[in-house]
Amino acid sequence: MKSYEKLLLENKAWASEKTMDDPDYFKRLVDIQSPEFLWIGCSDSRVPANEITGTQPGEIFVHRNIANMVVNTDLNLLSVLQYAVETLHVKHIIVCGHYGCGGVKAAMTNHNMGIINKWLRNIKDVHRFHREEVDAIEDENQQLNRMIELNVIEQVMNLAKTSIIQKAWKEENRPDIHGWVYDLHDGIIKTVFEIPAQTHIDPLYEFDDL
Ligand code: CO
Repeated sequence: MKSYEKLLLENKAWASEKTMDDPDYFKRLVDIQSPEFLWIGCSDSRVPANEITGTQPGEIFVHRNIANMVVNTDLNLLSVLQYAVETLHVKHIIVCGHYGCGGVKAAMTNHNMGIINKWLRNIKDVHRFHREEVDAIEDENQQLNRMIELNVIEQVMNLAKTSIIQKAWKEENRPDIHGWVYDLHDGIIKTVFEIPAQTHIDPLYEFDDL
């Protein structure tokens, strides 16, 4: 059997197991999608949103990219964000990075990686904002891990800077935004940062007339 054929076989087994436990399982999901959470995570195959949070299909709306970035010109992210906030009315947005992130690691080198350079440039900016703190850390692993935490914090801030979030904060006092980092070594998520709805960020980034 080819490797991808095994996926299809597993899918059949999974589907029949679900309906065996709960005959209406799929029927319920077809009728409504009302997740309470938007997850913005890394594409890394070792950090599957549902599995590590013990959530089921229908519970988390998910966007993943290299190094869980919130880039304000990324139409994909902005579309997901707008839909999650304005249509699904999510209550919480979680930006979840992970220690040992290859994307952040690559951004801390000078390797030329082609088109990925443009994506990693956003992480290099995070390094520049926090240069003093990051460069003062001697241990290379600890330096990377701190950069991963700072990157999550900056992406949470980037969400708060969007008019989508500011409008929802003003009109509906939601969503709260959470910055988390997952540890591949023990499977535990560490909370590193949080911005409750309606927090006043730097006035430079606040919009009038939302
Ligand atoms: Co990663």
